[in-house]
Amino acid sequence: MKEKILVTGGTGYIGSHTAVELIHSGYEVVIIDDLSNSQQEVLDGIEKITGTRPVFAQFDLCDEAALAAFLGQHRDIKAIIHFAASKAVGESVQKPLLYYKNNILSLILLLEAMQRHDIPNIVFSSSCTVYGQPDTLPVTEATPFKPAESPYGNTKQIGEEILRDNCRAVPATQAISLRYFNPVGAHASALIGELPQGVPGNLVPFITQTAAGIRQQLLVFGKDYDTPDGSAMRDYIHVVDLAKAHVIAVQRLLKGQQKSNYEFFNLGTGKGLTVLEIIEVFERVNNLKLNYKVVDRRPGDIEKIYADTTLANEALQWRTELGVEEMMRSAWQWQQRILKHA
Ligand code: UD1
Repeated sequence: MKEKILVTGGTGYIGSHTAVELIHSGYEVVIIDDLSNSQQEVLDGIEKITGTRPVFAQFDLCDEAALAAFLGQHRDIKAIIHFAASKAVGESVQKPLLYYKNNILSLILLLEAMQRHDIPNIVFSSSCTVYGQPDTLPVTEATPFKPAESPYGNTKQIGEEILRDNCRAVPATQAISLRYFNPVGAHASALIGELPQGVPGNLVPFITQTAAGIRQQLLVFGKDYDTPDGSAMRDYIHVVDLAKAHVIAVQRLLKGQQKSNYEFFNLGTGKGLTVLEIIEVFERVNNLKLNYKVVDRRPGDIEKIYADTTLANEALQWRTELGVEEMMRSAWQWQQRILKHA
């Protein structure tokens, strides 16, 4: 019997790649997604890659009745990977209540439902945004949180606190928060990838859309940061490496290997790259020229951040396998495929 894993937000960018890796590792995947920022056709991509079509239910996790009915039908779920959330930093400043509802209320309702249905295990999508601009680099898991820069960032901090407190109060509960640095790239098959709606806020989709002629020019935000070339520095991680870490986290929960019932890990490569370095790699591996212009800083951006990944490397026995060239190549292959199918 395959162990059943519920993936909320499973048609989204990281969720879909994780669904693929779970199926490859022998799990049965069931997905809940309200399709507010993804499309049902993603299931076709998952099926083409794995030969298996996950069970899919479309509803908002704040719909308690729908969630209860779903969990009533799937009584053998062993763990939940909870991706479903809103993730646009700028939008969260405009619509904070939407973010607290989608990201916090849904988490609380999910945890309550898990208790009612005796599901002890959850993996939570957190973010390096919880650290703000850290005083020292690289950031370890012991680095203290800074006040959140946006409602989105705040929902990740509060989400982690809720999980920590709930694990303290209910010792049978087991949770792992995974703090992602900057996930980029796409599956090597180019059958799934990131599908941003409207004008992308994130760097790599903006790069690929500019290369594809959908956007005229990429604006590089900031030229006077304290980095080798003055542009901001991030820790970009291939989405497939990130997805694999989720499978390992689930296995850790299922095998009862946790050191305490609430754990959290940084997931990055440990290497900082600037925006201009990313552009250089993108141009080189894909043999094209990008139209870009360096402009002033984007409000709210931090200068530089990259991860200390020692804890994840040692405790999870997880290492990234795909480098920045593969990130940029796969992102472009995916962009070309969605253009053909647009
Ligand atoms: C931020 C959050 C991250 C969150 C993500 C979701 C931090 C440290 N990170 O990532 O937790 O999950 O948003 O949206 O708060 N850039 C350009 N031109 C562009 C777009 C981006 O130069 O058109 C630059 C940015 O200024 C930044 C870098 O590229 O220096 C990466 O930006 P982006 O992809 O938006 O991610 P973060 O802001 O790092």
